Amino acid sequence: MPIQKVGVVGCGLMGSGIAQVCAQAGFTTIVREVSSDLVEKGLKGIEKNLARLVEKGTLTETAKGEVRGRLSGTTRLEDLKDCDLVIEAIIEQLPAKRELFATLDALCGPAAIFASNTSSLTITEMSTATKRPQRFVGLHFFNPVPVMKLVEVVRTISTDPAIYEEIVAFGAKLGKTAVRAKDSTGFIVNRLLVPYLLDAIRALEEGAGSIEDIDNSMKLGCAHPMGPLTLLDFVGLDTTYYIANIMFDEFRERRFAPPPLLKRMVLAGWNGRKSGRGFYDYTDPQKPKPMSL
Ligand code: 3HC
Repeated sequence: MPIQKVGVVGCGLMGSGIAQVCAQAGFTTIVREVSSDLVEKGLKGIEKNLARLVEKGTLTETAKGEVRGRLSGTTRLEDLKDCDLVIEAIIEQLPAKRELFATLDALCGPAAIFASNTSSLTITEMSTATKRPQRFVGLHFFNPVPVMKLVEVVRTISTDPAIYEEIVAFGAKLGKTAVRAKDSTGFIVNRLLVPYLLDAIRALEEGAGSIEDIDNSMKLGCAHPMGPLTLLDFVGLDTTYYIANIMFDEFRERRFAPPPLLKRMVLAGWNGRKSGRGFYDYTDPQKPKPMSL
């Protein structure tokens, strides 16, 4: 049976984006959060994104209604039991993810496929919480999910090749370029992106340039949509610190080691755009001002 119904667990920044693109691609989609407030918040964000697409003329009002008709929210994990594919986008903590997948394993039919949107945890370690490691993959999306054109499809040594191809095809149905990646920490993008971001912090620490000059260098010199320090604030300094530590633990290479400045900013609660402060001050979000560090 082809994939028809998709369950998304987690309706935060990533989960809501994933649910939106699944519903837009024609899949019946159900998204689960732990409280009705969070379900409502996630669905409201999707509604706003869809309304913006209608405003721009990218989506008709009728098509928007159809997308909304395919999308529902729930707080009950049991409501995902008839899904063909369940994509997890919850907190980046291995025990929480393993517990979730063990519960889903008992609830869902034997043909259901499980996927994790983790950016840095090991897919293999999650898959062993279930009795279906051969039907288990990584599906790593990028923020903002509706805009970014890539999805990394991750296979473990246990993933069934036919299931893997089915999920590669699913990624393409979402309108993404699906790249094939092995279950190696950081997959492809973060293996390359994280050392680059950490190097930008080291460049700042070593006085190679100011915050704005480092950002403008990569933005204007290399046509990146954002400079590295702006991108760090966008991704979240706490998130980057967390991923870097996992990658450093795995590879024991300096390029993955979080620089002292990053650690201190995270300790101070300067987590980037979401906390109002990072390399820039977002008191006026339209006009971020570089911090003096
Ligand atoms: N949801 C939906 N659509 C969004 C959006 C969001 N959160 N944010 C922006 N958009 C849309 C806008 O509506 C706009 O659409 P339009 O061109 O059709 O009108 C388009 O994106 C461009 O947005 P803006 O004009 O507001 O702003 P920018 O041109 O500056 O683009 C950006 C914003 C798309 C975020 C761009 O700056 C960008 O691509 N930045 C780099 C993002 C990136 O690298 N993401 C990957 C992070 S790494 C990651 O996620 C992996 C993890 O494991 C760490």
